[in-house]
Amino acid sequence: MSDAMQPVSFHSIEMPNRFALAPMTRTSAEVDGTPNTLMADHYEGYAKGGFGLVITEGTYTDDKASQGYANQPGIVSDSQVEAWTTIVNRVHAAGSKIFVQLMHAGAQFQANHYTDQPIGPSDVVPKGAPLSFYGDQTAWQTPSTMTEADIQTAIDGFAQSAANAKAAGFDGIEIHGANGYLLNQFLSTHFNRRDDNYGGSLENRLRLVVEVVHAIRKAVGDGYPVGIRLSQGTVTDPDYQLPEGAAGFRRIVEAVRDAGADVVHTTDGDVNRKHFTDGDQSLASVAADVQGIDLILNGGITETNYQEVANQFPGVLLAVGKKALANPDFVQRLKDGKEIAEIDFGMLQPKATITNELAWRKRNAA
Ligand SMILES: Cc1cc2nc3c(=O)[nH]c(=O)nc-3n(C[C@H](O)[C@H](O)[C@H](O)COP(=O)(O)O)c2cc1C
Repeated sequence: MSDAMQPVSFHSIEMPNRFALAPMTRTSAEVDGTPNTLMADHYEGYAKGGFGLVITEGTYTDDKASQGYANQPGIVSDSQVEAWTTIVNRVHAAGSKIFVQLMHAGAQFQANHYTDQPIGPSDVVPKGAPLSFYGDQTAWQTPSTMTEADIQTAIDGFAQSAANAKAAGFDGIEIHGANGYLLNQFLSTHFNRRDDNYGGSLENRLRLVVEVVHAIRKAVGDGYPVGIRLSQGTVTDPDYQLPEGAAGFRRIVEAVRDAGADVVHTTDGDVNRKHFTDGDQSLASVAADVQGIDLILNGGITETNYQEVANQFPGVLLAVGKKALANPDFVQRLKDGKEIAEIDFGMLQPKATITNELAWRKRNAA
């Protein structure tokens, strides 16, 4: 049996194997952000399909400006927390662990139940166009530059939602620091044009990320798994590079570790892409060189390369996105030697909802 299929103790959590479902937004919650039965069935399906760890879609953290998409789930109100508890219980009953991904959209904002005004590090819009499969918006709205009070509100939201996640029974949390959402915006020289303590040098651009990790650690206490997802690229600018290169990324990983994070989850178009301005390392290999942090790796992990990645990076978890969408039972299929389907993006059209996926499955069941 492949090493990836062996039970693993990951940051003191016992997991049946090393496969994680990558976080994937499905915009299928109720209008007020409450998760529903559709979502519970959906996540339970991946647990039954063999994923040792399920990481939820990006979930918003306050009833202010953190929500980015219509029908995105939140983990703020009592009803949201209660509904997540049901999902956690169902995933646990199916034998898997589950982390919630905590996300503040910042400038990458297409719809919000509580406000029409996005906020961000500066009044800079994302590159490219809004994502049609997450909503109807045709152009990005210009965010207002966050004040220190806005920054504190965002930190408080992350901390409270992490405490809510712990209360809901999640096995850990993942902070969304990747893909162009708020924390990634602060790290990015495209989005962050500030000239205060939160902008300019890498140490300053890191400040909010570090403060969020600190606040979350304080809210959940020692011993509770806290991870953070990190990337250079964003959803609409996948080739963005940190000007500080590999050493800058290493510094980010060390800083989140020192602030209290236990887990770093790297994501890139391909797990082995060498895309720093300098050197010939991947995000994964830079993170793997840092001591004292557990790793989840993502990007182009498939049935053909998973063993190689598992051997290359001993003990890490392998997060699978598109192949899991195409094969919710990806892990079970690998075990059984069954065929693995390619993704058909028709399942996410016209919107990436679970309802559209189910309709697509019905049409394609032959
Ligand atoms: C429909 C869809 C929704 C996604 N939503 C999220 C999200 O909420 N949070 C996140 O960090 N990444 C999100 N991603 C990115 C995936 O987690 C993953 O990084 C990406 O698909 C690359 O991995 P893969 O090659 O295994 O597909 C999403 C991807 C897809 C296809």
